Amino acid sequence: MPEQELYPVPPEWAARARINADGYDLLYGRSLADPGSFWLDQAKRLDWIKRPEIAGDWSFDKADFHIRWFADGKLNVAANCLDRHLAKRGGDTALIWEPDEPSEQPRRFTYAELHQEVSVFANVLKAQGVTKGDRVTIYLPMIPEAAFAVLACARIGAIHSVVFAGFSPEALAGRIEDCGSTIVITADEGRRGGKRVPLKANVDAAAAHAPGLKTVIVVAATGAQVPFDATRDRWYHEAREGVPATCPPEPMGAEDPLFILYTSGSTGQPKGVMHTSGGYLLWASLTHELCFDYRPGDVWWCAADIGWVTGHSYILYGPLANGATTLMFEGVPNWPDASRIWQVVDRHKVHTIFTAPTALRALMKDGDDFVARTDRSSLKLLGTVGEPINPEAWRWYHEVVGGGRCPIIDTWWQTETGGAMIAPMPGATALKPGSATKPMPGVDPQLVNPEGEVLSGATEGNLVIARSWPGQMRGVWGDRERFFQTYFTTYPGKYTTGDGARRDADGYWWITGRVDDVINVSGHRMGTAEVESALVLHPEVAEAAVVGMPHDIKGQGIYAYVTLNSGHAPSEALRKDLISWVRKEIGPIAAPDKLQFAPGLPKTRSGKIMRRILRKIAEGDVSSLGDTSTLADPSVVDDLVANRVA
Ligand code: WT7
Repeated sequence: MPEQELYPVPPEWAARARINADGYDLLYGRSLADPGSFWLDQAKRLDWIKRPEIAGDWSFDKADFHIRWFADGKLNVAANCLDRHLAKRGGDTALIWEPDEPSEQPRRFTYAELHQEVSVFANVLKAQGVTKGDRVTIYLPMIPEAAFAVLACARIGAIHSVVFAGFSPEALAGRIEDCGSTIVITADEGRRGGKRVPLKANVDAAAAHAPGLKTVIVVAATGAQVPFDATRDRWYHEAREGVPATCPPEPMGAEDPLFILYTSGSTGQPKGVMHTSGGYLLWASLTHELCFDYRPGDVWWCAADIGWVTGHSYILYGPLANGATTLMFEGVPNWPDASRIWQVVDRHKVHTIFTAPTALRALMKDGDDFVARTDRSSLKLLGTVGEPINPEAWRWYHEVVGGGRCPIIDTWWQTETGGAMIAPMPGATALKPGSATKPMPGVDPQLVNPEGEVLSGATEGNLVIARSWPGQMRGVWGDRERFFQTYFTTYPGKYTTGDGARRDADGYWWITGRVDDVINVSGHRMGTAEVESALVLHPEVAEAAVVGMPHDIKGQGIYAYVTLNSGHAPSEALRKDLISWVRKEIGPIAAPDKLQFAPGLPKTRSGKIMRRILRKIAEGDVSSLGDTSTLADPSVVDDLVANRVA
């Protein structure tokens, strides 16, 4: 039983870490008992233009719904990540960039250099007319300019909306339009695993559906020839010529928006999760320190993409606020071969690596040799995020990668939470493979049953958070009602995570996965409704239902059931066409792994699709479909079972 498998805190970590087991109990206890003074105290880790005198001010109740933290404080997030480090560590490395192509040289930027690059980029944005509160869409590969652009927005108070460079022109256009941004920052091309991604061409295609787009700043990343619209497009290297290298940071209210990041939900199109300045930065910085106990000189590597919240909080904001050396990797884990991650670790003497279980499972499949032939002696800590880690992958990470020396920091959190919520601290928490362990200070997780009753003791239920924390999202961009509806109505007075969880007898938390219609594909969130709407846009499709299914590498795969319009017949060619249709509409991560043509879907008499049945069939668990007698036409189930895609 993994619940009984306990990995104690290694003595080196107990000796080195800022917080030990007693320290954790004390810190956590105080955070809940006296949140006001606890959080004002924590706020001192940031550099404020005006220090706040109020901490949390919030209510999850409908009548008085509001969430504010440090609302009377003023600060600039970029100044916290850069300027305040200049005096003491201006010459220390802030950013290491490791290129896709291993034969190329990495690039390094000290805090002083990063400060200058960010100031230049900020002035380029200003020269294009960008001011405080404007939305800037960033559609960039993992190149240093991505970091410059993000921090440049923060410096001038513009709200960045980073769109993952793997998203399609259609998905990009939707996100540009939703937040009303008139400017996009992109590159000629991206590189990933030796392949090129036509980013500028994608922006050109998106522009056709985004009439509000007026300016495109293009970074020449690969030097490829790309179409150029002289009235709309500007090369970054030209725009920066003659631009001053200083730019005063804009004073921002703690509750002024910092960024929007689109994420999938169980209904409708992706929503713009909005984070604000003070609380978010405090959360990113505090959790980075607590979970990873970063010390000057350590090389920190979060192997995520800046297109996801993990990249925002743990490549950029958290580590830079803490004065860390953060590594940014342009490539993929298994190119040129499955040793790449560990070669990068050796090349830069990485102290901590933070990655997703899906990457570990893929590397595990390629065999231990790729790991064994590297040194990895610089590694002291291993992080994971994005999905539940199966104990087998956990043990492989611990033994084969970390040689049994490195604690594994399994962090549970969400785009909405800004940073880690349930996670171990290396000097304080004994580990159990597969458990995210204990809550961070100020985080008050509870388990509730479907009736909303709070469950106590060792049990399983729906995971809710009973009080606000500084890193909590503040709204859905442009839709106040949707924020409240999505997160605070299922269990009134509490934040609904959408996850299920188990709490064991030792008070350890085990995330069991989503309880809503969200699929976790390779640690990325995909809404079933989104994939379904993409499918029904196809002229031959009448109806579609999408569910998750277990997948060895991705954690969950996408299984789609499709009903065709009359006059159209299923075929292998159409199946392929539909899969690439979804890839084109949303992006490769949304492409169904399996697609079944179904003459009918299992619906109740009131027309509701019974997804429970579809999930069971997708899983291959056809012996326990449960009660199907309430279906309008129970016979559709027989056809679904008979034609299941194995
Ligand atoms: C969902 C959030 C957190 C940043 C990356 C994903 C799942 C995330 C874990 C973990 C079990 C996890 C949850 C969550 N999840 N981390 N350590 N153990 N599940 O952010 O796209 O907002 O997805 O990812 O289901 O709700 P996201």
